[in-house]
Amino acid sequence: MSGKKKTLLKVIILGDSGVGKTSLMQRFVDDKFSQQYKATIGADFLRKDLTLDNNKQVTLQIWDTAGQERFQSLGVAFYRGADCCILCFDVTNEKSLNNLTSWKDEFLVQSNISNPQDFPFIIIGNKIDVDDSKKIPSLQKKLNNIVNQLAVNANGLTYPVFETSAKDAINVQAAFEVVAKMALQQE
Ligand code: GTP
Ligand code: MG
Repeated sequence: MSGKKKTLLKVIILGDSGVGKTSLMQRFVDDKFSQQYKATIGADFLRKDLTLDNNKQVTLQIWDTAGQERFQSLGVAFYRGADCCILCFDVTNEKSLNNLTSWKDEFLVQSNISNPQDFPFIIIGNKIDVDDSKKIPSLQKKLNNIVNQLAVNANGLTYPVFETSAKDAINVQAAFEVVAKMALQQE
């Protein structure tokens, strides 16, 4: 035995229905993508082992849920012990961007974590592969506003932002590596 303990990190991914939460997970965990939309029912999790650049071994346990169920309670078990929360929107859907603040609030209410000002959130804008003409007009400006709004009650933290494509595998690995590092600090 090496005596090395593998660290289990719990990550929650939240955001409106259809933004690509399940697709991001599938790209990251199995390197797969499906064009077909199959709404997530209830909640589920996937695991993936990751070696960070300091050779530290971690297991990410990523909890996925149905965006459609936002106003139903998922139960405290879903949120309990979370080490990082991914707030996900679709770069073609302005409403999904504007809803990030309520997803964050929802998370903080449900998870009941002790020091919300220090809790690590990360923002993912997915579907950057789509044509620019379909993207939210003035996306960067609106995104900056939302990110500032999200960080208002944070203890001087800046929440990392990633623009990804689950479809074309752009930035997905990089985003989850940052998630792992942030989650590890939270442990
Ligand atoms: P719910 O389970 O309902 O909350 O949705 P979700 O957030 O899990 O979205 P899902 O991953 O099921 O993706 C919704 C649709 O968007 C599917 O048709 C996907 O194929 C598509 N999609 C996901 N990611 C991308 C992407 O990066 N680019 C493009 N073009 N389409 C994507
Ligand atoms: Mg889903």
